[in-house]
Amino acid sequence: MPTGATHQLPPMDALEYHQRTKHSLYSIQTDPHYLDWENQPLPFKVYSTLEGIPLPRELNRGASASGALDVQDLARLLYYTAGITKTKVFPNGAEHHFRAAACTGALYHIDIYVACTNLPSLEAGLYHFGPHDFALRRLRRGDWRGVIAAATGAEPSIADAPITLLFTSTFWRNSWKYQSRAYRHCYWDSGTMLANLLGVAAADDIAARLVVGFADNPINELLDVDTEKEVSLACVALGRGHQTPDTTSPAPPITPLGLETTPLSGEELDYSAIRAAHAGSSLASAEAARLWRESSFRRHLPPVIGSLHRLGEEPSERLPIEKTIVRRGSARSFVRKLISQSTVSAIARAAFTDIDADFRSAEGDQPTASPTLNDLYLICNAVDGLASGTYVYRPDEDALELLRSGDCRGDAGHLDLGQSLAADASLNCYLMSDLDQVCDRMGSRGYRAAAIEAAIMGGRIYLAAYSCGLAATGLTFFDDDVTHFFSPHAAGKGVMFLTAVGKSGKNTPSVG
Ligand SMILES: Cc1cc2nc3c(=O)[nH]c(=O)nc-3n(C[C@H](O)[C@H](O)[C@H](O)COP(=O)(O)O)c2cc1C
Repeated sequence: MPTGATHQLPPMDALEYHQRTKHSLYSIQTDPHYLDWENQPLPFKVYSTLEGIPLPRELNRGASASGALDVQDLARLLYYTAGITKTKVFPNGAEHHFRAAACTGALYHIDIYVACTNLPSLEAGLYHFGPHDFALRRLRRGDWRGVIAAATGAEPSIADAPITLLFTSTFWRNSWKYQSRAYRHCYWDSGTMLANLLGVAAADDIAARLVVGFADNPINELLDVDTEKEVSLACVALGRGHQTPDTTSPAPPITPLGLETTPLSGEELDYSAIRAAHAGSSLASAEAARLWRESSFRRHLPPVIGSLHRLGEEPSERLPIEKTIVRRGSARSFVRKLISQSTVSAIARAAFTDIDADFRSAEGDQPTASPTLNDLYLICNAVDGLASGTYVYRPDEDALELLRSGDCRGDAGHLDLGQSLAADASLNCYLMSDLDQVCDRMGSRGYRAAAIEAAIMGGRIYLAAYSCGLAATGLTFFDDDVTHFFSPHAAGKGVMFLTAVGKSGKNTPSVG
């Protein structure tokens, strides 16, 4: 139940949270929630007393003399991850700003902070990135990377990186619409941003390692966020080979900042299940973070049973990542047209492109072991030369394994809460995870890893689709119905993300 005042719930196990926030026909039909437009939260965090430090608007890759990262690189990465890429003006003059990455409800509850050493044109410090004016605001002077590295239990990439980005969610900015399910959206919506970030970093040849395992308190204290309302979700170490901060000597004391921010709305409601789930997946110490990292594992894929359809060539013409991100915008409708098999190859491989992340295990490199915590299940409605039906992607074979053939548009349309988008899309891509296994091996923190991985994979599917001239949208779903639909293959797996792909009902962007 939402309340205006915060109250304590005991920490909640991730599996319990996931179970409690499943959509079903019953939960949707009996939900009395309505949108209180008068109380809609601001989609930005605005530090009202701090002067903005404008970022360069020149978005080409920077070229500092040493080849090291500079502020132009940072600006480019931030823009394509979280920048405003489109503005819609309504007849009453109100403006809505759309961002580089898809976000549930366009509510933009994810913020990015930057911790860096001295960079050309930017002093070492801890900064907040404001997409509204494309500026940084300095929260702390000095090099705080050692604090972050220490909190991760000396994860080597953080200690070695000149820049670390820290992603947070302010719950109310999303729970206003989605209530307790907003905690899932913390990972969905930071994951789509991470797909962009990792894509641009890869194109620029910048090392980028995602770190989900860290002691939560020291990072939240460093950012000085009110953890009843805003929490850190993930860190990304950018670049390599910079002077390693000394993590053995005590870090300078972290004093509270008490900085003013613009109120988000007249009233903020508290959904205690969100805080309880976050507490249940928090790590208490750097040592706990180090041990958690060691718990990563490779899953064994089940034997192939259905017929295999090997994936072939990808489209020869693709948009580069920057153009793809700027053109991306979730499809509001699809037309029922065939898409080519080559785009399906691009999409499946994009989802499974390696992610350098602390939850990915390098161990046990057997060909039938998957480094991912998620599997990709597909409903093919209209793919040229591929029978309509359901499939699972086999990364070990680079092939689609047929689960069931037949027309599934009706089922697809039901599974996304009865929206027509999934029925009309040519392809529905579900990321699903065996959460019992993940949480058994990696505890509730493993849930965060599985959730963010799924969203990165789903975000990459978005990007792959647009780079091939198609359109895509994230969609929500009836959890247990999806599992049942893909069973027996998917029995016991939780649904983590859905991206529908097809030809847009309006103005399909052309490649080139
Ligand atoms: C995980 C996820 C789930 C989404 N679910 C839905 C949905 O169920 N229905 C819908 O119409 N749009 C859905 N969207 C699309 C968002 O509404 C869209 O991203 C947002 O309005 C921002 O617009 P843009 O993606 O065009 O920039 C979803 C997006 C994401 C990332």
